Amino acid sequence: MGLTGAFLVTLIIVAVAFPANGCSPEDIAALLDFKAALNEPYLGIFNTWTGTNCSDWYGISCDPITLRVANIVLRGESEDPIFEKAGRSGYMTGSLSPSLCKLDMLTTLVVADWKDISGEIPTCLASLQNLRILDLIGNKISGDIPSDIGQLNELTILNLGENQISGSIPPSIVSLGKLIHLDLSTNMLTGEIPSDIGKMSMLSRAIMNNNQISGSIPTSIAKLYRLVDLDLSTNQISGSIPAELGSMPILTVLNLDSNQISGSIPTNLLTSSGLNILNLSRNSLEGILPDIFVPTTYFTHLDLSYNNLGGSIPKTLSSAKYVGHLDLSNNHLCGSIPEGSFFNSLEASSFSNNDCLCGSPLLSC
Ligand SMILES: *[C@@H]1O[C@H](CO)[C@@H](O)[C@H](O)[C@H]1NC(C)=O
Ligand SMILES: *[C@@H]1O[C@H](CO)[C@@H](O)[C@H](O)[C@H]1NC(C)=O
Repeated sequence: MGLTGAFLVTLIIVAVAFPANGCSPEDIAALLDFKAALNEPYLGIFNTWTGTNCSDWYGISCDPITLRVANIVLRGESEDPIFEKAGRSGYMTGSLSPSLCKLDMLTTLVVADWKDISGEIPTCLASLQNLRILDLIGNKISGDIPSDIGQLNELTILNLGENQISGSIPPSIVSLGKLIHLDLSTNMLTGEIPSDIGKMSMLSRAIMNNNQISGSIPTSIAKLYRLVDLDLSTNQISGSIPAELGSMPILTVLNLDSNQISGSIPTNLLTSSGLNILNLSRNSLEGILPDIFVPTTYFTHLDLSYNNLGGSIPKTLSSAKYVGHLDLSNNHLCGSIPEGSFFNSLEASSFSNNDCLCGSPLLSC
């Protein structure tokens, strides 16, 4: 071993035994800029943001080798002792500083449930190539979703729910090929769902309820073979339900309630054995309910209320393994409710406000 080799070994031993103090000074500066744009008056979480070892700062962790900031996790609702001591949940005002974008080794950015953080999402966040988790739920963030969001190749979780985000869903979002969890719920989003959403092959949850999204449900959604949960309720979606949704292998929850969806209910949605929660309430669905229920039918929630469904109640419904929270009220159904223990155990409210239904649990025919 030459002198240089010995020197290197010594250096490595020293580095392992006494990790270099602190974090990269550039990262410290960026974090202090981020902090300066926020105001957290009740818990004092930023009081810990002193000194040069930013792994010691509340909510921050650094890569021990590179000393670069890897994670920012600041949740306003948490079981951390700091919340217990203060006896309250978190509250912050201010905005997200674009200085965050200098933290180019960042993999996790969680600034969630602080209620009053406002301003826009810095567009430069789309340049954070290592970002895996972006969670800004439960603030008052406004403006658009950055149009280049699709550049975040490593992103697995995008949670922007419960803010005041407007504009449309950027078309580039379909490039997020590793995204598993998408939550855009309870914002002010308009425009249509990108028609090629079916490209997001890892997507498991797509939660977009409580917005003003319009247009129809893209048929390509049915290509998302890992999708478990699709929630588009309380939007302005129109057109009919693509029959392909009934053939999705592991779709368990489909909430399309409170939209302007028309046409008939695809038969295979009602026979799909994996779908357990189906809410189509408060739309303009028409046609008859097909008499196709089978012993494998298992719905914990089946809500078809407030539509224009006609015809009679399918007799085969009573052959279902289980149907909980059945609601067929406020349609144009007619005729006698089939007899049997299944129907006897339901409340009259499941059938009320139809054209001419009769029999238990309603009045006898
Ligand atoms: C920096 O803080 C972290 C977390 O508390 C700790 O594990 C690490 O040893 C500290 N590094 C130095 C050099 O003090
Ligand atoms: C279905 O959605 C409607 C309206 O959005 C809601 O009121 C209802 O409780 C939901 N039904 C079930 C069974 O969860």
